[in-house]
Formats: sequence, structure tokens, C-alpha cells
Amino acid sequence: MAGADSRWKVRADRRAAIRSFAAALAGSPLLRGQQDPFRDHSRVPRLDELKTPLDFEPVAFAKLTRYNYDYTAYGSDGEFTMRRNREAFDWVRLLPGVATSGTVNTATEILGVKMEYPILISPTAAQVQLHPDGEIAMHQAAAAASNTPMILSTNTSIPVDKVVPAAPSPMWFQLYAREDMESNRDALDRAQEAGCKAIVVTIDQQAPVYERAQHDRNLSGTPVVRRVSTRQVAANPYRIQETRMFYNWGMFAQLRAMIKVPMVIKGVISAEDAKLAVEHGLDAVYVSNHGGRGLDYSPSTLEVLPEIAEAVGGRVPILFDSGIRRGTDILKALALGASAVCLGRMPRWGLAAYGPQGAQKMLELMQAELKQAMMATGRPTLPSINRSLVRTDFP
Ligand SMILES: Cc1cc2nc3c(=O)[nH]c(=O)nc-3n(C[C@H](O)[C@H](O)[C@H](O)COP(=O)(O)O)c2cc1C
Repeated sequence: MAGADSRWKVRADRRAAIRSFAAALAGSPLLRGQQDPFRDHSRVPRLDELKTPLDFEPVAFAKLTRYNYDYTAYGSDGEFTMRRNREAFDWVRLLPGVATSGTVNTATEILGVKMEYPILISPTAAQVQLHPDGEIAMHQAAAAASNTPMILSTNTSIPVDKVVPAAPSPMWFQLYAREDMESNRDALDRAQEAGCKAIVVTIDQQAPVYERAQHDRNLSGTPVVRRVSTRQVAANPYRIQETRMFYNWGMFAQLRAMIKVPMVIKGVISAEDAKLAVEHGLDAVYVSNHGGRGLDYSPSTLEVLPEIAEAVGGRVPILFDSGIRRGTDILKALALGASAVCLGRMPRWGLAAYGPQGAQKMLELMQAELKQAMMATGRPTLPSINRSLVRTDFP
């Protein structure tokens, strides 16, 4: 460095001088400190430079460890369903009408909870991976973004009685039920005592293995490290979580006895199950395929939403998630029968990228985009959004 540093000054040949100067610059520890050779660039934009909800994931990628980024990003197996969740929004077109109104009203009420926007935060596990304050930070972000309701995962990294009082916005609790019904009582009691306003019982299976992660590891020549123990694999070669193999409709009657607030079923992707859910007294149907993290080759949630809405027939509200990334996506889901939508990975990218301010801004951008889409299509209120707003090309 010392030689290259000064040589360029004494060279007569301009080209050689530029070459030496470039060498000096490339060797500079200052420049090296700013560059990550594995990325296109390493400048992390300021929060106020982010203009769309899609801008947060690259920043989260830059800030998280690869393992933690992967945990949020990946879908199960070949990721067909995860890709299809996104593709499905391309198969729906919006038909703008001429009627417009100066004011847009996005307010609604779901299961007794008043909301300024038909948007909630999906339950997602282990948020301390994203920010040291984990679920508390997410809850504070949700409250700052017009009191967005949040659903706390069973696998929260911070206990429910610490998360709920950290902010004033509504909290629901998600349950992975255990076969020994009595053993669910403690979690349900704690959630309800903490003030959770609904219980969301998830019935789909989260896959314990993500093939893309394995593929990456295989490419690197590092042997695959399975996250399940050898004993578990021998006992359970098909990778389905045995602890969840007992699910049946009778389970809801038993859980109901322990639940005083509304009970929601999460993971419905067929009209038949939606109908059965209403018949078994569920207070809302939550259409979800776990963001493509459950059964690969299950359909995208958007393409099954119309038949589920028809089966439910307005008897209970329909929540919807898996694949939502823009305000127009929300509008399409509402038009096809959702009462409100939930966001899974999006607020996680926001939290990982800029902490609670990032998650707040991400939610606010989604809210703004929804309003913009409602204005652009001439549907200023939620009741004015219906099937006539969209044309679908589902294959
Ligand atoms: C990292 C991660 C963790 C999740 N953990 C849970 C969970 O603990 N309980 C649950 O019911 N769903 C869980 N989900 C599924 C989400 O609630 C939601 O259905 C899904 O993320 C929606 O898809 P989207 O990410 O495309 O919005 C998780 C999803 C992700 C991405």
C-alpha cells in the first residue's frame, strides 16, 4: 500500500498513473471497510428513502445473519406453493370504475375489534431473531401504525404477559394445540388473562425441513445438518410433526370450553373445511397456507378464496394471508371475499431492517397503498369492494 500509494504521483505515463491510483484506492482500508464483496453494494438506505413495502427485504437481508434471513424467507420443499401464492395475484385484474369519492374510509370491525384498516399482523415465531426486543418491538410498531392488531405466536420469544402491556393496540393469541387437552389450558389462560381478544388455532403443518436451505448447504460442500434428531427421523421418516397428528373437529369443542373470547381456525384452504368450521362453531375462518411453509403443492390461498367465501356465505368473517406484498394485493383479497388480511413476512422484514420504526413504516406504506388502490378503482369504502371489481384468470 505504501508503495502503490505514492508511485502514481511520479509516473509520467497517464494510463499507468491511473492504474496505480486505482490500485492505491482499491487497497485503501477505508474503502474496504465500506464494501462487502458478496453484495452488489453495501450502502444501507435511510428509512426515509424507502418508498414501497418491497424495499424492506433487501435491507433485512443485509442486516440479518444468513440463518435468520433464511428462516423467514424460505418456503417448504420445492417452494411451489410459496411461488404460487405470489403468482396468483398476477391472475387477478382490477377494473377501475368511474365513481369516485373524496374520502376513503378503510375502517372495519372484526370479532368486536375496531380497526382503522382491514390489516392484521399474522402470528410468526421467534421475533428476537429480527430485533432484540422481538415481539414487544413488533407490538409497539403495530400500535404506532394506527393500532394494527397483532396475533402473537405460540412460539413467541417473549411471554404473552410481557408483550401485551407493552403497547395499547389489540392482541390476539395463536395456539398450536397439544393432544393432551388439559395442557393447553395454561397457555390459553395466560393469553386471555393478559388481554388477548381472540384465540387463533392453527391447523396446518409447518414443515420442519426446507429444501432450499439443504440445497445451499449441499452446494457449499458442507454436509446437510438436519434440525430433527436421528431418533426423531427414525421414528418419523415422513417429516410430519407427530405432535400435530391428532387434529380433528372434536378438538374445537374441547378448546372452546377453555376459551371465553372468539375462536378462529387458521390454515383453511378448502370450501369443505370452511363449511365444517362454521358448523363447528368457529367464530372466523382464516384462509392460509402458512405462507407456503406447510404442504407444498397445496393451492395458493387467493385462488381458493372465492369458493371459501361462497361456502361461508357471510356467516363469519374471513381472514386471509399468504403472499400479500402490496396494497393492490389487499384490495384483490377483499374483492374475492376476505374481511381482512394478515401480513406474515412483511412486518418481519420491516422489523429486521429498521427495528420498530421499520415495521411501523412498512405497515403505513401498505395502508397508504390500500387507500390509493381504493381511490384509483373508485371503491372508497370496504362494503363497496366486491367481485365486480376484479376479473380472474385462475388456471
Ligand atoms: C418465519 C415465520 C414463522 C411463522 N410462524 C408461525 C407460527 O408460529 N404460527 C402460525 O400459525 N403461523 C406461522 N407462520 C405463518 C404466518 O402466520 C402466515 O400464515 C404466513 O407468513 C403468511 O404468508 P406471508 O409471509 O406470505 O404473508 C410463520 C411464517 C413465517 C414466515
